[in-house]
Amino acid sequence: MALKFGIIGHGFMGHEHEKMLTAFDGIEVVAECDIDPEQLKDVPEGIRAFSDPMELINDPEVEVVLIAANNNQHKKLTIAAAEAGKHVLCEKPIALSLEDLDEMEAACAKAGVNFTVHHQRRFDPDFRTAKEVYDSGTLGNPYVIKSSLFGYNGNMHDWHVYIKEGGGMLYDWGVHLIDQMLWMIPEKITSVYANVRNVINFEVDDYFHIMLRFESGLVGEIELGTYYLTDRDHWFERHWFLGGDKGSAYIDGFFPEGKIVRTNGLLKNVGGQRTMTAAGPTRSFGPPPEGKLILEELPKVNTKHEDYFTNYVKASRGEEEFLVKIPQTRRVLRLMDAIRESARTGKSIDFE
Ligand SMILES: NC(=O)c1ccc[n+]([C@@H]2O[C@H](COP(=O)([O-])OP(=O)(O)OC[C@H]3O[C@@H](n4cnc5c(N)ncnc54)[C@H](O)[C@@H]3O)[C@@H](O)[C@H]2O)c1
Repeated sequence: MALKFGIIGHGFMGHEHEKMLTAFDGIEVVAECDIDPEQLKDVPEGIRAFSDPMELINDPEVEVVLIAANNNQHKKLTIAAAEAGKHVLCEKPIALSLEDLDEMEAACAKAGVNFTVHHQRRFDPDFRTAKEVYDSGTLGNPYVIKSSLFGYNGNMHDWHVYIKEGGGMLYDWGVHLIDQMLWMIPEKITSVYANVRNVINFEVDDYFHIMLRFESGLVGEIELGTYYLTDRDHWFERHWFLGGDKGSAYIDGFFPEGKIVRTNGLLKNVGGQRTMTAAGPTRSFGPPPEGKLILEELPKVNTKHEDYFTNYVKASRGEEEFLVKIPQTRRVLRLMDAIRESARTGKSIDFE
């Protein structure tokens, strides 16, 4: 039997969910809701349309309420759905504060309903490629992992530019990028240093650069900017760089291209010897001698966003665990508090 979903919020993400889930085996979308009547005009035939979220929540056929409304609506809608005995699948960011998350989790626990978050970017091909490289240990001891996303358009839009709506890039993309890094690296974070800026937006952050120091000394670096204007022929850039003592990996684009790169001349030239390069005498920079670099293909990953819902359905049937666990999302929110504190004080903040 298909799980019966009701989707609250029929904006950008509501439509994305509708497209994916109406074609997904194991889930049936039976109701959709938006407080803006304009957004209900294209609800497909056969799906009930409501302008009041309580009507959707109380629809007896709805088993799972998928919340895809503005960030500042997540708390009240989660609590209302839980109190009506409905399972809750909430869009990211799960909540705007740890206190809100505590209340949401308590309501779901009291009602005995499932509560998880739509972190489908755990199934992004670029991220899974980076994770596969990391998990395989092929780079030896990693010393840095960088994840970056730059937009060339310069604009944020709609409610995203208002604090009270839960706007800002930390809440928007930050939770994805931080969630990926934390899920990949199973280590404690000892400290965090961050620069968070409102470059052109009055209220909310549109740039952040975060350095996470893990227990082993590995540094995870996450950088995002919406105002990286250039005249290149694409409108964003997504990059990963993983550096270890046995090689490097660069991974570019959401559908990634890149290589694992090693050298067969490792440490050979050290010992006071000068190496002449085209740029002059140096031992560190300059073009590597012919034949010194060994290039390997990145691992192939087979991953897609639908896999998130495959896990959701199986976990609902008790066949496996929900991939995204609330304590993991709480850790991301806690870290975001430390990130903001570091940005405010200009100091590194001890974390775990
Ligand atoms: N996981 C992802 O990749 C991803 C991508 C984009 C957005 N999102 C998340 O999805 C949510 C929605 O973002 P969006 O970009 O679709 O925004 P949007 O503005 O396009 O759509 C939000 C819709 O929710 C409606 N709404 C607001 N409050 C409501 C309420 N109380 N009841 C019913 N409808 C209500 C609005 O009228 C609007 O139509 C946000 O939490 C956002 O962070 C997630």
